[in-house]
Amino acid sequence: MSQYPGTAEPLLRRATLTGLGHYLPRNIVSNADLSQRVDTSDEWITERTGIRQRHFASPDETAGFMAAQAAREALKAAGVEAQALDAIILATSTPDQAFPATAVHVQAALGAKRAFGFDISAACSGFIFGLSVADSMIRSGQVNNVLVIGSEVYSRILNFEDRGTCVLFGDGAGAALLQARDVPRSGPGILSTHLHSDGTLADILYVDGAVGQRDKSGFLVMNGREVFRHAVNLLASAVNEALLAHDLTAKDIDWLVPHQANRRIIDGVGKKLGLPPERVVITVDAHANTSAASIPLALWQAVNDGRIKAGQLILLEALGGGLTWGSALLRL
Ligand code: UT7
Repeated sequence: MSQYPGTAEPLLRRATLTGLGHYLPRNIVSNADLSQRVDTSDEWITERTGIRQRHFASPDETAGFMAAQAAREALKAAGVEAQALDAIILATSTPDQAFPATAVHVQAALGAKRAFGFDISAACSGFIFGLSVADSMIRSGQVNNVLVIGSEVYSRILNFEDRGTCVLFGDGAGAALLQARDVPRSGPGILSTHLHSDGTLADILYVDGAVGQRDKSGFLVMNGREVFRHAVNLLASAVNEALLAHDLTAKDIDWLVPHQANRRIIDGVGKKLGLPPERVVITVDAHANTSAASIPLALWQAVNDGRIKAGQLILLEALGGGLTWGSALLRL
């Protein structure tokens, strides 16, 4: 039966966000802590990135473990049982194993017997790519209840001899439950997603290695200046693409929830769009860059501290290794 009795508008089947969850490792590492181990300083990191601390996972805090913890919280927030899940989509570039997908470990941990699960590899854009897949599956009628999770343990792939990268990343997980709902046009749900890749830029941000390549380091490698140079323009264009698709301007957006890589990139995009800083969610100071987990963690934070409210229009954007980048527009 329609949740919107009496509405004259035809209802649309949409993927609506009904629950959020998070997990952050117990071990918090401040810039000062890091400067004991790396030739860096709190001043340099704070000034260039806005990062003040990050969480680093212990051996038992794997991507799968953290994802399952975040997932449990999202299900609880929505009042939904794991058995109701149809699918688990996990975005990660630090999976527990090359295969099986970390998503199936999450499925087992939750006891989500009916759900199928798979991982998405799109680096820091992974959560938006996952949302896009979930949105399409829900709209097509294939599934009703989907968890989209970002979970990362970048501390395991950081080269602590490279101060240009090891100070930037942290570990954590965020989860979002998406459920099919029939809603009027002005109602909640994902309105659209916009995805991009440019493989010609694969060499500016990557992990050196793959399964079986024993001669590789397995460390994250980044040309930070080049990533920075592309980031502001590509992110602003992805955001504009989402606005244009709905005939909106930045004034119509209640909150920008960006991927949390660097405060200067976030501010640059906000400025380009003319969005005041009070409408941009920032968690990079507390979490650093948690790659695919950063957007769901930021969403969780802002919903839980009461900033983001039901009915508000939210724009998500991310860019990461690939390069991959994209945006998503949703009403809570
Ligand atoms: O999710 C997407 C992933 N990545 C990103 O979004 C990152 C994008 N890039 C960036 O955020 C910035 O390029 C960085 C934060 C990585 C670097 O900032 P920058 O202002 O571009 O610094 P830089 O690489 O030009 O380095 C400036 C100086 C260098 O010293 P010299 O050569 O000028 O003497 C570096 O050696 O800063 C030095 N430096 C450091 N000093 C202290 C680099 N890393 C550090 C450090 N502590 N951790």
